[in-house]
Amino acid sequence: MPDPLHPDAPQTDPARSDALYDELLELALEAARRAGTLLRDGRPADLGVAATKSSPIDVVTEMDLASEKLITGFIGEHRPDDGFLGEEGASSDGTSGIRWVIDPVDGTVNYLYDLPAWSVSIAAEKDGEVVVGVVAAPMRGETCQAVVGRGAFNNGECLRHRPAPPLSQALIGTGFGYLAERRAGQAEVVRRLLPQVRDIRRGGSAAIDLCDVACGRLDAYYERGLNPWDLAAGDLIAREAGALTGGRPGKAVSQELTLAASPALFGQLQPLLDELGAWHD
Ligand code: IPD
Ligand code: CA
Ligand code: CA
Repeated sequence: MPDPLHPDAPQTDPARSDALYDELLELALEAARRAGTLLRDGRPADLGVAATKSSPIDVVTEMDLASEKLITGFIGEHRPDDGFLGEEGASSDGTSGIRWVIDPVDGTVNYLYDLPAWSVSIAAEKDGEVVVGVVAAPMRGETCQAVVGRGAFNNGECLRHRPAPPLSQALIGTGFGYLAERRAGQAEVVRRLLPQVRDIRRGGSAAIDLCDVACGRLDAYYERGLNPWDLAAGDLIAREAGALTGGRPGKAVSQELTLAASPALFGQLQPLLDELGAWHD
């Protein structure tokens, strides 16, 4: 039925989008499961750096490339008209209105050092809006998932953010970029934030950090410099778990700043991070 307030708006049949979102979710879960298994079981003991990107510490391994190839190949087989944006180079618009945003290994430095906090992050956008997000963390044996409007789940268990503590008792995750200049600014923000909160965590996978806000394992998480593939799936999962996400006051999450927190804490942290300059180098 046409929306009486917006008669020209494109018609979406709820039953059709439900079936589409089910299909996208199933594909994302299966692609993340396959990539996670490849990464966990196929990690060479002598894994080395295949290439560097923005700086000598921004590394790519052969497994990042293999994971992205597996994910885009698997999804492309089932939905040949969809577009892709992948960290390791996948880039196409497609013709279906669906685009997949993929981080084939989020937490590559952890993966390189055989530390467990790495993940596979896969999101599906419909006409530019993220509608499905999956973050698989194989070494935790956990997969978080969300469909827009349907809540967020971890291995089938419904997720809810933690009740917000006072700022002074908040456990806050963050991360650092790969450029020395940016890190100097980020360290300065942490120096000023740390005395005002319970503690800071630097997990090493932005996608897991966002899921940890959704799971109630962190009170909040913020980082400057995230790319769409780092945050697309985790941002939806955090929001569907009832957390608020955003950037600088009044702005959406972006490269400039990403913040996710329990709602009451979000209202305190957003202006504080703005004042501390978490949004600039
Ligand atoms: C990185 C991780 C890290 C975050 C960096 C990201 P990568 O992604 O998510 O936690 O602090 O900003 O670039 O390079 O491991 O895919
Ligand atoms: Ca990443
Ligand atoms: Ca990556």
